[in-house]
Amino acid sequence: MSGNEKMLITGGTPLEGEVRVSGGKNTSVAVIPATLLSDEPCVIENLPDIDDVHALVDILRSLGAEVDYVPGVHLRVDPRPAQGTYVGYQDASRLRASYYLIGALLGRCGRAEVAFPGGCRIGTRPIDQHLKGFQLLGARIEDKGGMILAEADQLTGTSIVFDVVTVGGTINVMLAACRAEGYTVIHNAAKEPHIVDLANFLNSMGAQVRGAGTDVIRITGRSRLHGTTYAVIPDQIETGTLMIAAAATHGNVVIRGCIPTHMESVTAKLLEMGVRVVESDDAITVRQAGPLRAVNVKTQVYPGFPTDLQQPISALLTIAHGRSNIEETIFENRFRHMDELVRMGARIMVSNRLAIIDGVEGLYGAPVTATDLRAGAALLVAGLMARGETEIYEPEYIDRGYEHIEDKLRALGANIRREKIRP
Ligand code: EPZ
Repeated sequence: MSGNEKMLITGGTPLEGEVRVSGGKNTSVAVIPATLLSDEPCVIENLPDIDDVHALVDILRSLGAEVDYVPGVHLRVDPRPAQGTYVGYQDASRLRASYYLIGALLGRCGRAEVAFPGGCRIGTRPIDQHLKGFQLLGARIEDKGGMILAEADQLTGTSIVFDVVTVGGTINVMLAACRAEGYTVIHNAAKEPHIVDLANFLNSMGAQVRGAGTDVIRITGRSRLHGTTYAVIPDQIETGTLMIAAAATHGNVVIRGCIPTHMESVTAKLLEMGVRVVESDDAITVRQAGPLRAVNVKTQVYPGFPTDLQQPISALLTIAHGRSNIEETIFENRFRHMDELVRMGARIMVSNRLAIIDGVEGLYGAPVTATDLRAGAALLVAGLMARGETEIYEPEYIDRGYEHIEDKLRALGANIRREKIRP
């Protein structure tokens, strides 16, 4: 991103106190494009004030929608004036989820011309399953010069079986199928909490989506969808990142406004490490006193251990007693942060999708660079627990997915600030 600032953290202070989780990034980037499927204004609340949301607000405006956005408060979208169907590279490359505009515009008006998405460099991240789903619904797809052109005279419901479990593919097909004529069944669907949240949002607009959260989603298309007011769910990955940071600093933190059932695989793994985790209805308390035990982590689709928390927990494992093995089964290039952790004194060997971490007494601060959003989160955790000062370059990656993270951590006692880099 070659930004012009760096984050500075002086580590070693246990995080203590209470923090409130923001609305979910990965649900917000699905729900905001979905407003285009409505024939009336929609209001969305609890959106996180993050760059991915800002990018989508700009894209909706560029398509002609009337958007009233108060960061951190609410978003009102009136899609009726939107006539646009084109999203160019400059806008689309600001976030991976720009490809949801294909499904939303296909559902809205049967035409979309969207530049191939940007996003984190954690693997090839093809969208063949998205395009297969659109074609089965009756759309003609053309991939020309980095642009995806999708057109359909009329989308028609059908049966779709994904070859791989894909969050993005499931979401994109849900968006298009909501306005298709007839009945669509999606087999081998993703089951993440944000899939369920999108289904709830769509149904609040009068859509007929059943089975979200299971691997079979059934959708009866609707010719019209009405307006709604909806609050998105809290961010599962921010919750997990804060849990890991609390454990890494031997802290005592109450994480409020989260959904503990979304965190079960993360809670189980931290308990396995010897971390004390206590759940209540809408809060999780993480208290770390004694030594951390090494464990094995294998990323899986929901409800398995989330790939988005593989990078943050790898920072925690650098100080666990013993050898930990991390197997990244979802993306083929999601270990780029390991080199940066080694610069801070970690002992890590990487081979393809396996990382072996031998625990050390502690990390020491060093200059490091974030290579993607969750790599940045991993370096944040490492900086909070390291002796001395850590400088994180490219912290803009972190801003894509964590709302006001420095304010939250400073309120928990962290010594963290940002500085401009001398030109
Ligand atoms: C979503 O990415 C999230 N992004 C990712 O979070 C998350 O890591 C991922 O789901 C898995 O949970 C958003 O929601 C915006 P996939 P997505 O399609 O949809 C392969 C973060 O840090 N695949 O579930 O791109 C793909 O290569 C981000 O917040 C195909 O082969 O993930 C991968 O190996 C990073 N063909 C696997 O499936 C396709 O058409 C899972 O990808 C689509 C995917």
